[in-house]
Amino acid sequence: MYVQKCIQCGAEYKPQEIVYTCPKCDGLLEIVYDWSELSISRKDFEGVPPSVWKYKALLPVERDPVSINEGGTALYRCDRLAQKIGIENLYVKHEGLNPTGSFKDRGMTVGVSKALELGMKTLACASTGNTSASLAIYGAKANLPVVVMLPAGKVAMGKVAQAIMHGAKVLSIRGNFDDALKLVRELCDHEGFYLLNSVNPYRLEGQKTIAFEVVDQLGWEVPDKLVLPVGNAGNISAIYKGFREFKELGLTDRVPQMIGIQAEGSCPIVNAFKKGQKDIIPVSSPETVATAIRIGDPVNAVKALEAIYQSGGLAESVSDEEIIAAQKDLARLEGIGVEPASASSIAGLKKLVDMGLIKSDEIVVCITTGHLLKDPEEVLQMCESPIEVDATLDAINKAVFS
Ligand code: F0G
Repeated sequence: MYVQKCIQCGAEYKPQEIVYTCPKCDGLLEIVYDWSELSISRKDFEGVPPSVWKYKALLPVERDPVSINEGGTALYRCDRLAQKIGIENLYVKHEGLNPTGSFKDRGMTVGVSKALELGMKTLACASTGNTSASLAIYGAKANLPVVVMLPAGKVAMGKVAQAIMHGAKVLSIRGNFDDALKLVRELCDHEGFYLLNSVNPYRLEGQKTIAFEVVDQLGWEVPDKLVLPVGNAGNISAIYKGFREFKELGLTDRVPQMIGIQAEGSCPIVNAFKKGQKDIIPVSSPETVATAIRIGDPVNAVKALEAIYQSGGLAESVSDEEIIAAQKDLARLEGIGVEPASASSIAGLKKLVDMGLIKSDEIVVCITTGHLLKDPEEVLQMCESPIEVDATLDAINKAVFS
């Protein structure tokens, strides 16, 4: 059994109530379980390959899920990159290997399954791109119509392609993500559409499985540091909840320090962290090459800051140049192709190691959240252009050895 509980005033709402924030105080909600009847041990998970639904006993879905095999992404040990950064134990969990190319699929398999349980008829979200791509695909699988709102001209091409191919109604809003999120929340309230942004506490439950898989893939080890990009701040909150729950269930004995990385041009959470504040001052015109995290007013800021403070973690910002350099390092030293937002985790790690805030012998896991092919335009701008040559061996020789 479980309830939806306000993290601010503690009010509780039944599982079937359609609420996204607390009707009493507007606080964020989280799913809280009564696991007193649940008997679970490490043995129950051993020998089962990692995936979101491996952890069904710890998820709030009763029906057969709407699934296209999400989760179970690779955790790579990255020795060459670690050496360049100056640490000994670096792992990268590549969430770009999910079916639609980003970690959003973990949230959507749970959120869209819940939508069917709740009898919802239309699904909606605002998005910097990946959420819309994922929702379009899970909506298609569930046979439910999807409406998505994107900031016009600021969404990477691969993500728009996914959303339109899978049949979502795609609206390009003349405004930024924060504007689009406000509008879609109003639309959902007025029309009874089901909102699948990360303010939806059910969606975040799917994303907590990243924590479960990290522990699983490290052989029941908890890393010292977990580093990831932060935009609307749902993922850092969800992953922290996953680590907390494994500890509460007695499966592990600690949680990692949670480290959130934002782009310099849109870093309200980093600003709040550096002042020791529990809430943010929104950034009004966020800007960064990492369009996925071009967000000035993250809806889950309070949860994210709580995750960072409670775990003794950190928040840091990185420049676009640092992001692009890290993206190339990952690609060329480790063969891991990620979109710019994802590379911010590596850029942030490098900066924190240089600042002496991460020690060389600590076990670090970075989450890379989306695949390189999501944003081919950025790659074409940032990398060496292909060299066009005449179809002769002579011309090819000249080009190869020039
Ligand atoms: N990385 C990528 C590739 C993302 O697409 C996002 C968020 C994040 C990191 C940040 O995650 O919002 O949970 O802090 N993308 C959302 C979207 C906002 O609409 O696709 P977060």
